[in-house]
This record gives sequence, structure tokens and C-alpha cells, in this order.
Amino acid sequence: MKVVVIGSGIMGSGIAQLAAMNGYQVGLVDVGEAELVRAQRAINDSLARFAKSGRLTDADVRSTQDRLQLTTNLAESVGDATIVVEAVPEILEVKQQVLAEVVDAAPRTALLSTNTSQLSITTIGQNLGTDSSRLIGTHFFNPPVIMRLVELVRGLTTGDDTVERARVFASSLGKEVVVCQKDSPGFITTRAYAAMRAECLRILEEGVANAEDIDKAMKLAYNLPMGPLELNDFNGLDTGYQVLRSLDAAFGDRFRPTVGLVNMIAAGRLGRKTGEGWFRYDSDGNRISE
Ligand code: NAI
Repeated sequence: MKVVVIGSGIMGSGIAQLAAMNGYQVGLVDVGEAELVRAQRAINDSLARFAKSGRLTDADVRSTQDRLQLTTNLAESVGDATIVVEAVPEILEVKQQVLAEVVDAAPRTALLSTNTSQLSITTIGQNLGTDSSRLIGTHFFNPPVIMRLVELVRGLTTGDDTVERARVFASSLGKEVVVCQKDSPGFITTRAYAAMRAECLRILEEGVANAEDIDKAMKLAYNLPMGPLELNDFNGLDTGYQVLRSLDAAFGDRFRPTVGLVNMIAAGRLGRKTGEGWFRYDSDGNRISE
């Protein structure tokens, strides 16, 4: 069985690694060699951490690497795919274009999934005709090799068999599954968490508390492993911004991106991946304490 992941960024590289660690042959596709080099490095670093902590043997690491094929040739990679996971940026037109290319080149039986964190599955699949019955949201969390949940999201035209196939796939990766039965913006997880993050941003901008204390308060008061602002840095402020814009359009003001967030995006301070967001990071992505 071959899994092909399109987009080798934060999520795509992790989903590809996860699938390879669980025995799948994996294709990982991106637009350029530089993106693939970055993805390979991220995967190698993560596998090295698994080996160091004794969760994988050196032989496991090598066989995982052997099962992974990184490429810029989408059509060739999906040509013999059983499952295709789209993980390109959270931009509707880009996702639609990529999935159209996938449908042209992949077997007619391939399961098609999108890792969107809040866009409509029905809209992403609107140009796919009857093939949209094979499309489902498989919302993984960052980092996919660690986080336990996959949130499945049914589009209006998603087939029952597609839901079942996606459930089996997620379970085969060792994940717990929930099914979001309605194609509603932000699904369960993104909508609920975005509301909390937006409120934390407003608390920051009103000067009620600084970023350090907001995160500390939320972690210790509610037993969260990471504060909302640090998690925003980890996932990318640009991704979080797109999420808020979509939810604002769907549900109104309570999700409106704050002025401070808009300024951070304009300044290119996108979080850990650019070395600075609400906190600062060194070139290995470790947080610099102020
Ligand atoms: P990212 O920006 O890190 O990676 C996206 C990758 O897609 C880039 O490497 C880019 O070069 C590539 N790409 C762009 N156009 C392409 C094309 N036409 N063909 C092939 N590759 C292409 O983005 P990230 O954070 O990995 O997000 C991907 C998806 O996952 C988005 O839909 C996002 O909303 C979702 N998501 C993100 C989470 C996060 O924590 N970052 C969590 C859960 C879901």
C-alpha cells in the first residue's frame, strides 16, 4: 500500500514520516528541491530523536528512510497510490488545483484526503465531480508523529466507504479518531481552540499580561502542555491567521484577527519557522529565554 503526501512542510513531512514508520511505502511531493531537502532534514532529525530515546532501533530508522521517496513529480508519485494526503498551504485555490492534478494521475480507487485545518471539504472538492465522494478531511495535529488524534471531516458528498477507509487508515497509524459529521468551518478542534487563542491575543494586546505569563497561566490553570501563544508560534502565525480570517467570515467578530497579529504577519514574524513570533527561537528551533 502506498501513501502519497503532497506538500512537505510542517505537516506533510510529519505525516509522511508517520506513514513510513508504520510500514507504508510513502511518496512525499513538493514543488522544489529546496523544500524536499528541508523536509528530509526534518524527518532525519525526528527519526534520530526516536532512536536516541530508544523508541526506534537503528534498523527501524533505516527501513523507515528506505520506504520514503521524496520527489517533485506529483503525477508519477500518485500513479500507484492507494491513499493521497494533501498538505499544501491553507489556500483554497491551491488545494483545489493540487487535487485536480491528483485525480487526473492517481488510480480511480485512491482515497483522497485533505489536511485542511478549517476549510470546507465540500468546497475543496467542488470541481472533482463524482470523485469528490472519495475526498475526506483527515485533520492531523502538529507534530503528526506524536499527537494522538485525527479528526475526520465529512464533506457533503463524502461517501460512507470513504469515512470507513479513512478511519482504518488513521487507526493503522496508531491514532484515535473522531468524526466531524458536518462540514462546518473549523470543525471541532480548530474552532474551539481558535476562540481561546483569539482571546489570549486580545489579553496580550490590551496589556493585561505579557506573553510569558499568559502562556504560564493557561498551562498551569488548565493543564495544557503548551501555552496558546507558544503553540501559535509552533504551528505558524500565518496558518493561525488564515484560520481566524475564515472563522471570522463564518461566525463573525469573535474570531477577528487582532491588529497585533496582522502586524506580526506583515513583519514576517511567523513563529518558530522564522525564528521569531510571540517568542524567539534559535536556528534549531529551540526557544531563547529572554
Ligand atoms: P507549510 O507551509 O509548512 O507547508 C506547505 C508545503 O506545501 C510547502 O512545503 C510548500 O512548498 C508546499 N506546496 C505549496 N504548493 C504546492 C503544490 N502545488 N504542490 C506540492 N507542494 C506544494 O504548511 P503546513 O503548516 O504544513 O500546513 C499544511 C496544511 O496542514 C494546511 O492546510 C494547514 O492548515 C494544515 N494544518 C497545519 C497545522 C500546523 O500546525 N501547521 C496543523 C493541522 C493542519
